[in-house]
Amino acid sequence: MSRKQRPLAQIISYSSFTMPRNLSVITFFIALTVQSCLSVTLYEYYVPDGVPSTGLVAEGETFTLNGKNLTIFSGSFHYFRVHPDYWRETFKKMRAAGLNTVQTYVPWNLHEPRQGEYDFGELGEDMSPFLDLRSFVQMAQEEDLFVLFRPGPYICSEWEFGGMPSWLQRDPTMHVRTYYDNYRSAVAAYFGALLPQVADLEFTEGGPIIAVQIENEYGNFGYDDEPRDHLYMNFLKNLTLSSGLDNSLLYTSDSPASKLDWGTLPGVLQTANFQRDAESNLSMLKLLQPNRPMMVTEFWSGWFDHWLADVHTDWDVDEFATTLDYILSHGSSVNFYMFIGGTNFGFMAGANAVPTWPTYAPIVTSYDYGAPLSEAGDYTEKYSRLVELIALYNPLNGIVDNPVGPAQRQKAAYGDFPVTEILDIYSLISQAPVKFVNDEPLNMEALDMNNGNGQSYGYLLYSTNVKLQVPQSELLIRGHVRDMAQVFVDLVVQTKPYQHLNDVNDFGFWNGRDKNISLPGTGNPADRLDILVENLGRVNYGAAHNFYQKKGLWEGDVLVDRERVLGWTMTPLEFKKSFVNGLTGWEPFTTSANGPAMYRTTVTLSSPPLDTFLDMRQWNKGVVFVNGFNVGRYWSVGPQRTLYVPAPLLVQGDNQITIFEQYTAASAVSFIDVPILS
Ligand SMILES: *[C@@H]1O[C@H](CO)[C@@H](O)[C@H](O)[C@H]1NC(C)=O
Ligand SMILES: *[C@@H]1O[C@H](CO)[C@@H](O)[C@H](O)[C@H]1NC(C)=O
Ligand SMILES: *[C@@H]1O[C@H](CO)[C@@H](O)[C@H](O)[C@H]1NC(C)=O
Ligand SMILES: *[C@@H]1O[C@H](CO)[C@@H](O)[C@H](O)[C@H]1NC(C)=O
Repeated sequence: MSRKQRPLAQIISYSSFTMPRNLSVITFFIALTVQSCLSVTLYEYYVPDGVPSTGLVAEGETFTLNGKNLTIFSGSFHYFRVHPDYWRETFKKMRAAGLNTVQTYVPWNLHEPRQGEYDFGELGEDMSPFLDLRSFVQMAQEEDLFVLFRPGPYICSEWEFGGMPSWLQRDPTMHVRTYYDNYRSAVAAYFGALLPQVADLEFTEGGPIIAVQIENEYGNFGYDDEPRDHLYMNFLKNLTLSSGLDNSLLYTSDSPASKLDWGTLPGVLQTANFQRDAESNLSMLKLLQPNRPMMVTEFWSGWFDHWLADVHTDWDVDEFATTLDYILSHGSSVNFYMFIGGTNFGFMAGANAVPTWPTYAPIVTSYDYGAPLSEAGDYTEKYSRLVELIALYNPLNGIVDNPVGPAQRQKAAYGDFPVTEILDIYSLISQAPVKFVNDEPLNMEALDMNNGNGQSYGYLLYSTNVKLQVPQSELLIRGHVRDMAQVFVDLVVQTKPYQHLNDVNDFGFWNGRDKNISLPGTGNPADRLDILVENLGRVNYGAAHNFYQKKGLWEGDVLVDRERVLGWTMTPLEFKKSFVNGLTGWEPFTTSANGPAMYRTTVTLSSPPLDTFLDMRQWNKGVVFVNGFNVGRYWSVGPQRTLYVPAPLLVQGDNQITIFEQYTAASAVSFIDVPILS
């Protein structure tokens, strides 16, 4: 959608001189011109003279933008979850649905991977290509959309640590999401780098940003009888204003029916998050804030999945449409959370702290969310239903353009490719870039790596030599393992894969406390003992005490036959692209290792690549790298069984598919053309 219409004369002369003299082509161009005379773009409607004088105002029943009524029809689309080659096409699909706005969160952990090192696309990290926030915001405007900006710094979003960088936890007295000094100074430095990226893209300066959110569901942060830290909220508000985002509407988002106005600030617009029961949630919002327009900042169009859950969660499309009808017919503005969910690539999936057993629930790789556009950007039934409802309730229907959306992208079933090479765990460990030696086991965050920022993601191997008795000794780990551990004696795996839900209480899983396991001894004076611990995702949602979550072994001693074991070597496995692509020592594959190993195959494509799905149903648990890029975790426990591979990660020609499998590998890698999410 171009904001400037080409003059009629130019189009006609272009078509008659450079096109073949074909009547239907000329008719087509004339038809296009006639249509664009009847309706205008959003920006032409809201900024007829090109210079906005006032931005978004929330007084009375209806929002106004530059003095004209605006009902916000918005969709959440996170640039860090959709391949950048698909951003523009996604915006077009949103605009074609009748939306006028896009809403995004901003992930601090990706934008500041190491303290003081900022990444807005230029840092050369594996995720850097996804991080050009400024281009994303500008592209939204090019596609005729406004922007609701949610900088966090806490974003929840089923994202690792709710978007916060793990290095914050190197401060032993850190209190995230509070007025605590060291947290506050870290936020101030980050916002100081982030907000100027987009400060000149506010609506009143000719850009698309109409509103900025302060914190996120802050009413949920704490127990019901505790007051919220309003000093911190005010600090964020002041910081936003002083960093140049000083001319946008400010808002907060919470669940008014249960959290009332605990997460709000005076003068800042309160908005609602909910899925069902629109009536009670909206009426509570109206009661709390009678003289301002209603906005549902998160209308949950679907839901996310946890590993180990029986089925893929979705939401019935009729209930979705009925609730949307209620929201729109009561004059409320709406944002679909999500409009397109996308993917938690790499190790970016978070986890939820749940009040009931098993207390910690890690999130799957797909963030399909049951959204109107699927993980791969496909139109769904929810999309068609919301298009009808928006057309029905949009006061500007027929006045503002309604462009046609792009066609569905084709998917490919590339079939089976036999695994050709294996790299054993010895070779893998020996090629790790760093190792640390310490008497006691250290948590990931404490390791002196990544310029003093610790290890954020992946696995950490704890190794030592101990005397194990014949026939067996007892290994005891005090506290919990964070989050899952596999044990090896002389690199032979001793722990079993997860099989039943109750296993999470046992040795090697997050819910087990002070658990032990029997290990076979050889009678040698020193057997090699290794414990491989995986960070399955830091908690993104829960009460304040859930936000202290160091990973690895650190809660208590490790004992063999009741004696404390000291003298550990720690080998981080972050599986960055350069590491995966640089691995050497591959051997021809004959059979699966019993325990962790790397596997590889080459997929040769003779035509331009298409989107596809890796079918991991024959595999057990691990991570897949496509040409070195981490496309995420897979796990036989489900519900998700395939991994989405967007075409831009593949090339025409040879592609390396590398898999870190922790238990037993299949003999082939398979690509199918549909996702299996349950
Ligand atoms: C703008 O909204 C207000 C409040 O809902 C309404 O009274 C008014 O008629 C609307 N104006 C236009 C031009 O639609
Ligand atoms: C925010 O700014 C206001 C106005 O300048 C000031 O009164 C207040 O103390 C500031 N609050 C914080 C927490 O910085
Ligand atoms: C409000 O929304 C939440 C979330 O969808 C829902 O659980 C609840 O039943 C709704 N109503 C009230 C009164 O909380
Ligand atoms: C080891 O585990 C067994 C059962 O799982 C338990 O009976 C025993 O007390 C444990 N040993 C220690 C030292 O905790």
